[in-house]
Amino acid sequence: MTGLPLDVPRSEALARAAAHIDAAWRSFDAARDGQPSLDADLADVLAGPLPDLPTPVLRALDDAARVLDESLAPARPRYFAFVGSSGLEVGVLADALASCYDVNLASHAGVADLVEQQVLAWVGQFVGYEAAGGAITSGGMISNLTALTAARERALPGAREHGLAGHPAALYCSAEAHYSVRRAAELLGLGAARVRSIAVDADRRMLPAATAAAIAADRAAGIAPIAVVATAGTTLTGAVDPIAALADVCAAHGVWLHVDGAYGLPAAAVASARPLFAGLRRADSVTIDAHKWLYLPKACGVVLVRDRASLEAAFAHDEAYMLQTDDGRNAVDRTLEYSRPFRALKLWLAFRVHGAAAFRAAIEANLEIARHLTDLVRAHAELELLVATPQLSIVPFRHVPPDPVDLDAHNRALVDALQRDSRVYVSPAVIDGRVCLRPCVVNYRTTAADVEALVDVTVEIGRRLARA
Ligand SMILES: Cc1ncc(COP(=O)(O)O)c(C=O)c1O
Repeated sequence: MTGLPLDVPRSEALARAAAHIDAAWRSFDAARDGQPSLDADLADVLAGPLPDLPTPVLRALDDAARVLDESLAPARPRYFAFVGSSGLEVGVLADALASCYDVNLASHAGVADLVEQQVLAWVGQFVGYEAAGGAITSGGMISNLTALTAARERALPGAREHGLAGHPAALYCSAEAHYSVRRAAELLGLGAARVRSIAVDADRRMLPAATAAAIAADRAAGIAPIAVVATAGTTLTGAVDPIAALADVCAAHGVWLHVDGAYGLPAAAVASARPLFAGLRRADSVTIDAHKWLYLPKACGVVLVRDRASLEAAFAHDEAYMLQTDDGRNAVDRTLEYSRPFRALKLWLAFRVHGAAAFRAAIEANLEIARHLTDLVRAHAELELLVATPQLSIVPFRHVPPDPVDLDAHNRALVDALQRDSRVYVSPAVIDGRVCLRPCVVNYRTTAADVEALVDVTVEIGRRLARA
């Protein structure tokens, strides 16, 4: 018996946990009427000090399930906020298995290393990118930072050893790129002020000519271009930057091209969206979050590179306690993290259990549902679409009541009221100074009826607020 035994047979605890997971899955199958609030019993538990004595495991598991049921779960079909994750069922099982064995992918981990390498190749095949290497990460932030660290070392060899040593350097990205690009510039010592925020066109896509001009101006001023970051699906509106034209700019100027497809890149696998991603193969590195539009539970990010040696140039090092293996370097020589859980297992199981075709169908269905939402918004006299045509599955819109109101204040209050009502869950955004709702459809459980409910509830509550 271990020193930390459960107070019931393990099979009983496992059965209770399984029952909670089963109940959760059943409750995700269809939308529920609203979000339960914190109940009094649980509030008492949450106010308690560090427990010195044990709570029976079955009771503690029941409490944990209530905590989760009363928390916001992106897995629910009417969760439209941010870029959600669906908690794909086989991914949940994989997480349980992976944490049971608790394999560490920092150094040689045996067969798990082969699975990670296979999954990286599969993700590349899925989106149409020939990857020579990469890593499974905790998400888009770390994937972007990993790729941009490699880009910095490529542009300024020795920067990891000596810092920038007074050599100014810059990054180029869309004015609507994710903040993680700026954060990477902060962390890499470039400085956020040297992130060149490139203007976007009417479709909110980064302008290649402006990118080329910014690179040329920096070069002339003695500032080293580190990388161009094309966003393949901006977080604000789902715009896909023109990757092929940006690849031309990068080729002409000898600059690294990184594609941040944390949200949108899985859509490169499907027929109706594939043309948007033309030129992807020419990127030096790409980011994809499997915990976004490949439906897996957090965390499962992917960074892929065209040249495996570029990661080792940026990260390889020697440690007296982590000697190189016969098979080559350790994972810590290609990644930012040290202790690294076996996140690849859930992606491996997901592709094996469902097959890539089912993923393509689910993504295509999400795009179709987003188009349905777009049609509903366009057809409704009191709703206004805030982009010309959504490129992926983000459909920003706002409520415009018949009588004049301050539309920004009205829509801000509307999102707050919708969140309190909780039949649908949507987050606010500001586009060109206009406050709107910004639903994003990335859940395989979301149906046409769910976006119809989003429209109906929005108009119902919007009208009530406008009359108040
Ligand atoms: C385009 C883009 N890049 C990067 C990120 C950061 O990803 P993560 O939250 O997984 O670190 C996001 C998150 O929404 C994103 O949309």
